[in-house]
Amino acid sequence: MEFENSASAMTLPKASGEAVDEDRRGFVKKLTVTALTLGIGGAVVECGRFLKPNVLYEPSRVFKVGELSRFAIGSRTVIEGRGIEVVRERDGLHAISLVCTHLGCLIKPVENDPEVGYVCPCHGSTFARQGEVLGGPAPRDLPWYEMYLDHTGALVVDASKVNQKRTKLVV
Ligand code: FES
Repeated sequence: MEFENSASAMTLPKASGEAVDEDRRGFVKKLTVTALTLGIGGAVVECGRFLKPNVLYEPSRVFKVGELSRFAIGSRTVIEGRGIEVVRERDGLHAISLVCTHLGCLIKPVENDPEVGYVCPCHGSTFARQGEVLGGPAPRDLPWYEMYLDHTGALVVDASKVNQKRTKLVV
């Protein structure tokens, strides 16, 4: 009787040890699968990010500025956020850059001055109404951009193309 008791006492810890081993193996297996899953998932995400170009998308340089009726003859209209001004005169329209040719500051239109059309707040360059440099460190005239009327009658400025000949859009 005593022997049987000691035998059962011997087998019980052994069975319990196997159960502990099984639990440990299961835990290590789950840990391995989890680590592999996270590793592979991370690698896939990183590959996806690598394949996607890391660029900042700028707004299109071809944009509508509104219906023709928005621009009365004799008006000068600053297009907010685009760095241009649309000028309408009797003989046509043109779009002129408001970005200083010195270091790129946004210049300010000057009203009621027959000579100076624009002044740069940064270093004081001045430009004529047609964009020619009058004074200051700016090295070049303000460029004009191409513009046209689209099929809906909206005025479109193409700021990717400089209007080299400075021709006005006749409407
Ligand atoms: S940025 Fe306009 S004068 Fe310098």
